Amino acid sequence: VKPQLVGVIERFVRSTMSDDSRGAHAFEHAQRVRQLCLLIGRQEGADLEVLEAAALLHDIGRPQETATGVSHAQVGAEMAARFLGTTAFPLAKVAQVAGAIRTHRFSEKLTPDSLEGQILGDSDKLDAMGAVGLARTIEESLARKRGFEGMLEHVSGKLLNLRDRMYTSTARRLAGPRHDFLVHFMRQLAQEYVALGAKLPSVLGPFAKPEGKHE
Ligand SMILES: [Fe+2]
Ligand SMILES: [Fe+2]
Repeated sequence: VKPQLVGVIERFVRSTMSDDSRGAHAFEHAQRVRQLCLLIGRQEGADLEVLEAAALLHDIGRPQETATGVSHAQVGAEMAARFLGTTAFPLAKVAQVAGAIRTHRFSEKLTPDSLEGQILGDSDKLDAMGAVGLARTIEESLARKRGFEGMLEHVSGKLLNLRDRMYTSTARRLAGPRHDFLVHFMRQLAQEYVALGAKLPSVLGPFAKPEGKHE
């Protein structure tokens, strides 16, 4: 995507997000997903123009989801298609961008039907892993008042499953160290509890053993 058009898309993305720190974090997430998409897309021989637009726009439906409960993947796909139609973005590729956004949400179990959709999903999952993913989880858990155990349950029950759900081999490779970091964090935490003789939160149980199932 030409730099000028990227600027236009970025301004639109910002306009859909709140001005507070949540909006800022959402924008930073979109930028990281964009970089991941370009990195993976180059390796996998994907359409980088489609990927870059889809990455920047993939979560624009979030505020609507909060307001109406309709999935932000569905709403966002429609919003993105309408918006791109008003720009210099190639009309023939708008449907591909919308399709990738529609299927980006892993928890909805919609399988992407294009390489670009797979890479967008992979990039979104990668940004939920590793140090970035842990920092985002802590932040989200505070905002949603999930509590400390709720935060750990999210790491254990959701984030540690992501590595084995990557579509592309490039993403699978990038996921390895991010996964290992999360496992290391959980093990270290468990060890600190054990060393103090403190009662282990149940979610940390599997990580207190030398060889965990999360290897
Ligand atoms: Fe999303
Ligand atoms: Fe996302």
